[in-house]
Amino acid sequence: MNYADLLLKRRSIRNYQEKAVANEIIMEIIKESTYAPSAGNGQPWKFIVINDRALMQEISDEAKKNILDRIAANPNDYVKKYQKMLMNDQYNIFYNAPAVVYIIGEKKLKNMPVDCALAASYFMMSAVDRGLGTCWINFARQISSPELLNKIGFPKNHEMIVPLIIGYPAQIPTMAKRNEPEIIKIL
Ligand SMILES: Cc1cc2nc3c(=O)[nH]c(=O)nc-3n(C[C@H](O)[C@H](O)[C@H](O)COP(=O)(O)O)c2cc1C
Repeated sequence: MNYADLLLKRRSIRNYQEKAVANEIIMEIIKESTYAPSAGNGQPWKFIVINDRALMQEISDEAKKNILDRIAANPNDYVKKYQKMLMNDQYNIFYNAPAVVYIIGEKKLKNMPVDCALAASYFMMSAVDRGLGTCWINFARQISSPELLNKIGFPKNHEMIVPLIIGYPAQIPTMAKRNEPEIIKIL
């Protein structure tokens, strides 16, 4: 697939086939995501791969609970607009994806979040190149239970930057509308 096709084909996918993604393929995609640039070539990204739907359900339940608690504590929180959706028991933050990959990094590293986001961008493109779909799921960062963090092997002093679901798309939506680029000035 050429680059223009890749760009145009990438979408946030929220509907997946049941089919699992082989770990070898996820490893290839992770490898390609490390071709992203990083500040001082620091490559601060680390990865947690979760293929276990029961565990994903647990993460979804905990994240939903935490976000709803946040809304209860502060009704002006911007996440309030998602309240109804989050209260729906049928709603799983990972949709029906077979896997989620967390891109994480050590908190103390200054450019780590930007570097991880760049790796995520490469990850999403590598997935499209293999006929796979992804979606960045920010909600999945809202987990705090020590037991759950321990279960996923989340290391101390790290931060979750990008949770990406991955799977074979069941449905590919049309491209979400893009605004014209805002060019401030051409000098
Ligand atoms: C930082 C970030 C957080 C996002 N969080 C979520 C999320 O929690 N749930 C979700 O369904 N999509 C999430 N998305 C996907 C966006 O909704 C999506 O990228 C946007 O609507 C544009 O659509 P496209 O990716 O198909 O071009 C997130 C995207 C980014 C970049």
